[in-house]
Amino acid sequence: MDIVIRLATNADLGPIRDIYNYYVHRSTCTFQLEPDTEDARIIWFRDRSPAHPVIVAESGGDVIGWAALSAWNRREAYAHSVEASVYLRHDVQRRGIGRSLLCDLIERARQAGHHTIIGGACTEQAASLALQESLGFERVACFKEVGQKFGRWLDVVYMQLFLDHQTSSNVVRALP
Ligand SMILES: CC(C)(COP(=O)(O)OP(=O)(O)OC[C@H]1O[C@@H](n2cnc3c(N)ncnc32)[C@H](O)[C@@H]1OP(=O)(O)O)[C@@H](O)C(=O)NCCC(=O)NCCS
Repeated sequence: MDIVIRLATNADLGPIRDIYNYYVHRSTCTFQLEPDTEDARIIWFRDRSPAHPVIVAESGGDVIGWAALSAWNRREAYAHSVEASVYLRHDVQRRGIGRSLLCDLIERARQAGHHTIIGGACTEQAASLALQESLGFERVACFKEVGQKFGRWLDVVYMQLFLDHQTSSNVVRALP
């Protein structure tokens, strides 16, 4: 499968939304309960900036996956912390495309001058957690029963990757 990873454009919003909405009623990989509307995706994309890009994986002219960096928190002091999202079309999973998208996103985060990437996933999302772990994300928190979907309470793990390893927090961690 020949894959091209590139920045998303307005023309990609339909497939981005379709890929995401597939999971809304079927999976705890998103805590959204109702499918995205066309307007919601347009606003989501309009609010992007170079520091918070959206990328897509394209194959044979079709968008088959997407990924994005979003603000972790809108308060100014959090400006260099971003949250990563990756969504693959359900029929092309486990072919390395998710890893390629996340690798590309990590490099873009580094180039944008971000300090750390945070990934959140429901504890039952083994693929998402394993993908992040395979790229060096570490588990830093687990919040119990913070979401409710499909009639059950859900726990959320937060994963973190530091982009600059000469940071004060890493130095602190390295101390005996
Ligand atoms: C999670 C997701 C992005 C992974 O993408 P993918 O292309 O299927 O995964 P890859 O083929 O790149 O796999 C990379 C690594 O992730 C892990 N992984 C992927 N799928 C897995 C699965 N079903 N079970 C366990 N580990 C899995 C493995 O560590 C794998 O490495 P390996 O193949 O060398 O063992 C994709 O499954 C997806 O879109 N899922 C639904 C949406 C979602 O959960 N998004 C994450 C929330 S932001």
